Amino acid sequence: MTSQYRFTSALVTGASSGIGESMVRLLADSGVPQVIVARRVDRLEEVAAAHANIEVLAADLTTDDGMRAIAARVASEAEPIDLVVNNAGFGTSGSFHELDPDRLQLEIALNVTALTRISRAALGAMVPRGSGHLLNVSSVASFQPAPNLAVYAATKAYVTSLTESLHEEARGTGVKVTALCPGLTRTEFQSVSNTETYASNYPAFAWMSADDVAKAGLDDVAKGRAMCVPGMIYKGLAAVTGITPRGVTRGPEPAALNRRP
Ligand SMILES: NC(=O)c1ccc[n+]([C@@H]2O[C@H](COP(=O)([O-])OP(=O)(O)OC[C@H]3O[C@@H](n4cnc5c(N)ncnc54)[C@H](OP(=O)(O)O)[C@@H]3O)[C@@H](O)[C@H]2O)c1
Repeated sequence: MTSQYRFTSALVTGASSGIGESMVRLLADSGVPQVIVARRVDRLEEVAAAHANIEVLAADLTTDDGMRAIAARVASEAEPIDLVVNNAGFGTSGSFHELDPDRLQLEIALNVTALTRISRAALGAMVPRGSGHLLNVSSVASFQPAPNLAVYAATKAYVTSLTESLHEEARGTGVKVTALCPGLTRTEFQSVSNTETYASNYPAFAWMSADDVAKAGLDDVAKGRAMCVPGMIYKGLAAVTGITPRGVTRGPEPAALNRRP
């Protein structure tokens, strides 16, 4: 364990698997008291049982009740949260015109609506307090269009844009706001988003572990950076995408890697 995080408390959404679960473990190793959020309460309880000082809050963030409950916890003055991680999210792959419209609606509800509501609650509490950290998990898919992951990339473009704007708004307030933009990361994301074929379609070097992504995000929000792109390969791709004509960056999914090997 090389990192020691000094957050006084944290709330992590999507803590039952993948990047969120890794963040919980890293924060627990630093002794940070946490509130962990997801739908699968059994998985959350397993995570909580493995560490000290973890409160489990089961919530479906695509529902109004779930979103409001977590926003209220984030806004609590009695039990302030120093680090809020908006990590819960999912994707849907396939041709836009054939995808289940109700599922796309839920994807927008989670990736956009809930993240916005919880971000508002976080900054509403943190800015008057003059301290706090907000880490919003976006994706390298936010940097360019992604055919066959169109709604996912669009939701993440929103997350990156919102988060960069909030980073600037928070400048000088004592509050740090960071967008975490991972590339391909081995988690349950691939089974949920029906992108399991990526495992064989993309080379091993393109994949990162959830632990490495989680650590990069936590390190950079602690430093107050506006954006974190974990891994040299994705840092390079993000830089190239920024100067590449848009017509070139449009390609088969995921556009950040652009071509199937
Ligand atoms: N893996 C990648 O390649 C990759 C790349 C770039 C960005 N990301 C982003 O990283 C974040 C974490 O994803 P992951 O890769 O760690 O995937 P994951 O293993 O599937 O984790 C997703 C988490 O979100 C939670 N979640 C899903 N729907 C929810 C809902 N309606 N209400 C509350 N929680 C919900 C899940 O818990 P429950 O099912 O228990 O609710 C789970 O804990 C996402 O925002 C994703 O878009 C992932």
